[in-house]
Amino acid sequence: MSHQEDHEGTRRDFLYYATAGAGVVTAGAVVWPLVNQMNPSADVQALSSIRVDVSGVSAGTQLTVKWLGKPVFIRRRTEDEIANARETEVSSLPDGLARNANLPADAPATDENRALDESGEWLVEMGVCTHLGCVPLGNAGDFGGWFCPCHGSHYDLAGRIRKGPAPENLPVPIAEFVDDTTIKLG
Ligand code: FES
Repeated sequence: MSHQEDHEGTRRDFLYYATAGAGVVTAGAVVWPLVNQMNPSADVQALSSIRVDVSGVSAGTQLTVKWLGKPVFIRRRTEDEIANARETEVSSLPDGLARNANLPADAPATDENRALDESGEWLVEMGVCTHLGCVPLGNAGDFGGWFCPCHGSHYDLAGRIRKGPAPENLPVPIAEFVDDTTIKLG
């Protein structure tokens, strides 16, 4: 699986905004053609398990890859972003569950239970709004994480819903580091 350049997230977000302004339906319909171009081959897209090279992802940016037909956000968080996410009380969250496929279903939504690694530097989550399935924008919203412009859902730096109609945190898929710079999804 190849990685995308950091600026491609920005291009994607720009495309979304441009199209939303024109009144076209959802992010999905617009975003996929562009994401498809970035993928190496149809074979890779069909695999239930993929490996993603994250060596080009710098702190404070994210990579979006397509996996099982859906976008997955892989974010490398800064120290400040981690600290911000970790000081949030679970009791203050609309959805108190981690929604992490690597953990038991009743695991609480602490930042530690959402992050991929112990330091919290890496966060992997499905890029699909839990309201009606639009693709949220990165580095956006009232909580500095993701913002879904379809109906105004704000997610924090751990991908947890904080404000708006989305009922659940962005799901964390099965994921692990298989070496220093490669994350395996599935
Ligand atoms: S689909 Fe994201 S807020 Fe409705």
